[in-house]
Amino acid sequence: MQQQNEPSISLDTTRIPQHIAIIMDGNGRWAKARGLARSAGHQKGVDTVRAITESAIKLGVKYLTLYAFSTENWKRPASEVAALMSLILTSLEEELFMKNNVRLRIIGDVERLPEDVRQAVLQLVERTNGNTGLTEIIALSYSSKWELTQAAKAIAREVAAGEISPEDISEDDIERHLTTVGIPAPELLIRTGGEVRLSNYLLWQCAYSELYFTDTYWPDFNHNDFCQAISHYQQRERRFGKTSEQVAQ
Ligand code: IPE
Ligand code: IPE
Ligand code: MG
Repeated sequence: MQQQNEPSISLDTTRIPQHIAIIMDGNGRWAKARGLARSAGHQKGVDTVRAITESAIKLGVKYLTLYAFSTENWKRPASEVAALMSLILTSLEEELFMKNNVRLRIIGDVERLPEDVRQAVLQLVERTNGNTGLTEIIALSYSSKWELTQAAKAIAREVAAGEISPEDISEDDIERHLTTVGIPAPELLIRTGGEVRLSNYLLWQCAYSELYFTDTYWPDFNHNDFCQAISHYQQRERRFGKTSEQVAQ
């Protein structure tokens, strides 16, 4: 089993992205293809979260941001929302975070979460606060438009209070009101499940991220697939508006 985990892809260990964001998509289709209920796909998806968290640790990734539930996902059938909430509740095991020295952070509109889920996740955030390994950021009831609207409101309040003038509002002011404050932008964004869209995820933060899309459903995504995505990232030239010649200098 261990051998299966070894990357068949050789990576430049000096150029591992410090922050990888993932849109974990395809759980429902994975289940449907097997004649199973959608919730079985979500259940299997939790195993992938664990495996990819371990891969990220092994590879030396510092921040892993996982899209677990979007603002739009509240529109799913109540039974599926309930199944997802209960899965979140049972899968966030403190022991695993402690064993792996993983620090948990939650981004999203937690006020909308059922009380027991909200309490449990916030408690785990607090308990893992001293961990110094990987920071795992779970996007829960998250969307970029929600986040940016929150930031706009907060800045408007500062303006109204006379703390800042509209002319002085900078990109840094917006950044300090995002849920990801203090976290570097993801160098790489991965989406599994075949869709080629961002679904309201980290739109500000991924302004210059490299994007990687794979048809593999999230429950099937493994260490090798993860390495493959990083390998693709390593082959890209990040120009940030400059010319290739400038970058080479
Ligand atoms: C992603 O899988 C998990 C969540 C959005 C919670 P989906 O449930 O979207 O799976 P598909 O896209 O229907 O296959
Ligand atoms: C995006 O997946 C949200 C998560 C992975 C949690 P969806 O499956 O909800 O995305 P759309 O609605 O098909 O774009
Ligand atoms: Mg989907």
